[in-house]
Amino acid sequence: MNKPVMKVIIVGSYLEMGERAAKLVQQLLHDKPNAVLGLATGSTPESTYAELVRMSQEKQIDFSHTVTFNLDEYYPIARSNSQSYWDFMHDKLFRHINVNPQHIHVLHGEAQDPVAECASYEEAIGKAGGIDLQILGIGNNGHIAFNEPGSPLTSRTRVVQLDESTIQANSRYFSSAEDVPKQALSMGMGTIMEARHVILLASGAKKADAIRQSLEGPVTEAIPASILQQHPNCTFILDREAASLLKNTYEQV
Ligand code: GLP
Repeated sequence: MNKPVMKVIIVGSYLEMGERAAKLVQQLLHDKPNAVLGLATGSTPESTYAELVRMSQEKQIDFSHTVTFNLDEYYPIARSNSQSYWDFMHDKLFRHINVNPQHIHVLHGEAQDPVAECASYEEAIGKAGGIDLQILGIGNNGHIAFNEPGSPLTSRTRVVQLDESTIQANSRYFSSAEDVPKQALSMGMGTIMEARHVILLASGAKKADAIRQSLEGPVTEAIPASILQQHPNCTFILDREAASLLKNTYEQV
């Protein structure tokens, strides 16, 4: 089997990164209005969501038939908590576009039975026909969704423990690191790898080392995003800072 070729696009700014990613979503929904989108949280996809909101308000994109599945959610956390990913997604995207609320899927951060919640999430993705386009960010340690280093490459949606470094990185949104939940529910590496197209976004120098290792290092559980080298249809969209440690030559826009 030939090694899949990853597409790497290096853009001039964080805003351009968002525009490029939003255009790929727009193209997909134009070709397949009922596409299934996998969505990410964090500061990275915010410019993508802002651009999608703009397109939606200007009637350049239609989400009315689109189905969404978010990657992950803290556990435990109430949906009413302003730091929940449920709240983030409504604040940044869902409230501003014409997506049908019944088509929105976010893992329940307060599920009584989190194991059953994860199993039914996997089932729902399958029933929806699988994910057409998965948007990903990347943690400073190379994590994707909440698949921390060491996550099995075949893992499915499950309860995970957050790394201390992730708790510290994400504490910027909470009053203190103690307030960051220590666990999360997260799509697995195997779940993400089944998406038909994966777009990983990264911006800023803090991500440069993780990006270098993901694209140019070995495929290893130690750097979860490195598994994307084996994905048949994966696009990295990076700003110059995130791409600054790459040795190979890639498309510059
Ligand atoms: C969190 C999320 C990831 C995200 C990462 C990076 O841990 N679970 O999905 O990619 O943070 O966040 P940011 O984009 O804010 O750097």
